[in-house]
Amino acid sequence: MSKNPVTRRQFLSYTLTGVGGFMAAGMLLPMVRFAVDPVLKAEAAGDFKMTDKKIADITNEPVRVDFKYEQKDGWYTSDVTQTAWVYKNDKGEIVALSPICKHLGCTVDWGGSEKHPDMFFCPCHHGYYTKDGNNVPGTPPRGPLDAYPVKEKDGFLMLGNPEENPFVRKK
Ligand code: FES
Repeated sequence: MSKNPVTRRQFLSYTLTGVGGFMAAGMLLPMVRFAVDPVLKAEAAGDFKMTDKKIADITNEPVRVDFKYEQKDGWYTSDVTQTAWVYKNDKGEIVALSPICKHLGCTVDWGGSEKHPDMFFCPCHHGYYTKDGNNVPGTPPRGPLDAYPVKEKDGFLMLGNPEENPFVRKK
């Protein structure tokens, strides 16, 4: 006989505790992963999306560029379409402006107003922006249009997430 005999009761207790712990871990781990995974997979800031706009085709006249991409929001995946107004400024820099008005979020158009065809116009409350996206004082918008960071890949334009307009700050 050994010095520390394990009784039948102890053996059953250890076995049930071990099996119970294993089963609990099997149920808890997927729940923890479910809660944490979307955070771990959050899109990196500055994530760039491809457009079908050739860099060589960009002129000094703003044109509307629509681009689509797949967006993952937690466990939900959807197709998103976004728009940018794209042109080259006097320094040869590519400017890609968000069309979202900084007043109440309507969509602005280049040359949408007969009165000021050389400006971005928001038809909702007659907001105006200059070509670089700066809001015109005396009209409802309180700040400049955001700008997309730009990149080139294989001769095509790529756009990041809209951020504070750097072309207005440079003045
Ligand atoms: S939403 Fe654009 S001016 Fe009001």
